[in-house]
Parts: sequence; structure tokens; C-alpha cells
Amino acid sequence: MKKILVTGGAGFIGSHVVRLLVNKYENYHIFNLDALTYAGNLENLQDIENKSNYTFIKEDLTNESGINELFEVHKFEGVIHLAAESHVDRSILDPLSFAKTNILGTLNLLNAFKNTHKADFTGKRFYHISTDEVYGALGDEGFFTEETSYSPNSPYSASKASSDHFVRAYGETYNLPFVITNCSNNYGPNHFPEKLIPLCINNIIKRKSLPIYGDGKFTRDWLYVIDHARAIDLVFHEGKNAETYNIGGFNEWKNIDLVKELCKQMDEVLGRDEGESEKLITFVKDRPGHDLRYAIDASKINKELGWEPSVTFKEGLAKTIAWYMDNQQWLNNITSGDYQEYYKAQYRK
Ligand code: NAD
Ligand code: DAU
Repeated sequence: MKKILVTGGAGFIGSHVVRLLVNKYENYHIFNLDALTYAGNLENLQDIENKSNYTFIKEDLTNESGINELFEVHKFEGVIHLAAESHVDRSILDPLSFAKTNILGTLNLLNAFKNTHKADFTGKRFYHISTDEVYGALGDEGFFTEETSYSPNSPYSASKASSDHFVRAYGETYNLPFVITNCSNNYGPNHFPEKLIPLCINNIIKRKSLPIYGDGKFTRDWLYVIDHARAIDLVFHEGKNAETYNIGGFNEWKNIDLVKELCKQMDEVLGRDEGESEKLITFVKDRPGHDLRYAIDASKINKELGWEPSVTFKEGLAKTIAWYMDNQQWLNNITSGDYQEYYKAQYRK
């Protein structure tokens, strides 16, 4: 039985990765390490929690001795590292917590992995899940490739860029086998409603205003989360050592157009008059340092590993809306309590 450690498996993307691996690989034991911050939610994994090849471990990446002990006991052969503070707006409010988890937490994992295997890395792999935001902002044209220089603009992206650099440096310095992927914006079931799409779905259901930063012309490339999970499985197993792969949907949307499309589909689902939800759109103060545009050139992973998105945006958005409509209790559970405080602080300006 191969022991694989997935970090951040109670979060949005991590829960889809854990589910895919637990169901697909009976010869793996998947350990899901997660601190269960505001973004971690074990409800995301209820369907697999009793599987015999799955174990949940509540631990914080910043607890160095706790992480070391886990590696001493289990000697994980593979690490798929997703745990992070992930929301750009929160990184503007509290950069230090992003440095602690994303940089120091990653270093704790790297050290534990290195010290456990003591340079015998045969059959081992450390996989860091990163973001396209490390590349900074694009103008109206062009794409991020694996050769684009790093130029992070937010505390979040600076912390992810730093952790990418540490992973690569451990590869160079200690021969630690690694792979990194940089992915564009994900959307889909279990997405925490601080992010644009689930925030708008929640607010449309509750007839609350839809806050659009600045002029709404900021552009993101959206990928259905299960296609990202499929890519992670593929890169973990078939990606070349010490390589970076960009992952994206070739699916760019200006925020305002995306939210209008969401309003249209939600009006149909909710049986509301056409145009009703669009009236909720409200332009609000821009995000400081807001990157204008992200767009990924995903041709390397396509050519070398044969990956491509399997779900069109229309299908993905419809599936996402259906999931939130069917899981309003999930939504209500996480939008009570602390979420209300965050929302007031973030949107009162
Ligand atoms: P998320 O915020 O939904 O989940 C993060 C998870 O990490 C949560 O379960 C949380 O409890 C856990 N966590 C946070 N701090 C921790 C700590 N100190 N110790 C242990 N666990 C901790 O994030 P997500 O959107 O699922 O993103 C997962 C990863 O993918 C992140 O590394 C992120 O940078 C990257 N990524 C996200 C996107 C996206 O669009 N969401 C795109 C590209 C890359
Ligand atoms: O590109 C990958 C990144 O995508 C990931 O690394 C991050 O973890 C993930 O959070 C996401 O970052 P973004 O900042 O792009 O996602 P968010 O959903 O916060 O915002 C998407 C766009 O919508 C962005 O241009 C900001 C805008 N926005 C966002 C919110 C929350 C609004 O206009 N209003 C809002 O209320």
C-alpha cells in the first residue's frame, strides 16, 4: 500500500482531488492533512469518509514538530500539497497569515519529506499545486507560458511564488524530486462563497447585491474543478521530474460578462423574470493591485500528457448552479457566523 499525503483536502480543490484518488487507487492509502481553517470543511468529503484507504488528519502545516512526527510514522512516498490560504482579498487584510501557511508551511513539509527519505528518493515525489497569479498581470493580449517570469502583485501571489521557488530550490539543492503546476481560476461544487462565482450564486439566491470590483473588465480564465483534479492526477503520475505545467481552460471571461451570464442562468433555474438578477449588480471599490487579466497557455500539458478540459463552460456553470441549488444547507452553514464578519469588513467600503 503506497502512502500518499494530500494537504488541504478539506478545501475546495483538495476535496475533489482526495475523492478522485481514494476512488481510483485502491492500492494507495490517502492521508488528508488539513487544519480545518474557515475554508476547510469535512462535509465536502462525507461520501468517502468511511473508505478503508482514507484517513483524515487534523494538523496545521505551521506546526513543525507535528508535521515531522507524521512523516516519521508514515514515511509518505508522495505528497500532493494543496493546503494554503487562498483568497486574494484576505491576503490584503492579513498578509502575515499567508506567509506563515503558504511559505513556512510549505518549508515544513519540504524539510519533513527531505529528512524522511534521506536522499533516497526513488519512487518519491513532492507535488506543489500553484497558481497562475505568480506570473502577475497580462494586458489585453498574450498568454502565460511556463517560461513567463514571475511577477506577483498581491500578498497571496507573492506567498505562492515564494513557495514555488522553495520547492524548486530543494530540487536543485537536495535533489528532491518535485513537480509544480500553475492553474487558472477554478469553479464548481464546494467553492467557498468568498470567491466571485459562489458569492454571486449565494447572493442571487438571497436577492443580495452582486459586488463587482472597479469597472468589471478584469478578466479571468475559468476551469471546472474536476478537470483540474484530473490534471493533478495525471501530472502526479506522469509529469516529468522538476518540470512546471500550466493548467487552464482556454476560457476567458470579463467579470461583468461572467456575472451577467450567471444571472441569466440563475433566473431560468429560479423561475425569475429575465433580467431580474442583473438588477442586483453593483459596482464597488476596486481591489488594490487588481491584476487586469490572466490567461493560460495550456499547450504543454496537452502535448506532453494529453490533458484537456472535458467540460465546457456552459455545462460546468449549469452543474455548479445545480449543485448550489441542491446544497443550500451547505451554503447556509458556512455563510453564518464568521463569514458575516468577513463580508461586512470586505464590502462595507
Ligand atoms: P481553499 O481555501 O478552498 O482550501 C484550502 C485548504 O487548506 C482548506 O481546507 C484549509 O483548511 C487548509 N489550510 C489552510 N491553512 C492551513 C494550514 N496552515 N495547515 C493545514 N491546512 C491548512 O483553497 P482552494 O481554492 O481549494 O486551493 C487549493 C490550492 O490550489 C491552493 O494552494 C491554491 O493556491 C491553489 N490554487 C487555487 C485555485 C483556485 O481557483 N481556487 C487556482 C489555482 C491554484
Ligand atoms: O487565478 C487563480 C486564482 O484564482 C487562485 O490562485 C486563487 O486561489 C483564487 O482565489 C482565484 O483568485 P481570484 O482573485 O482571481 O478569484 P476571485 O474569485 O476572488 O476573483 C475573481 C475576479 O472577480 C477578480 O478579478 C476579482 C473579481 N471580484 C471578486 C470578488 C470576490 C469581484 O469583482 N467582486 C468580488 O466580490
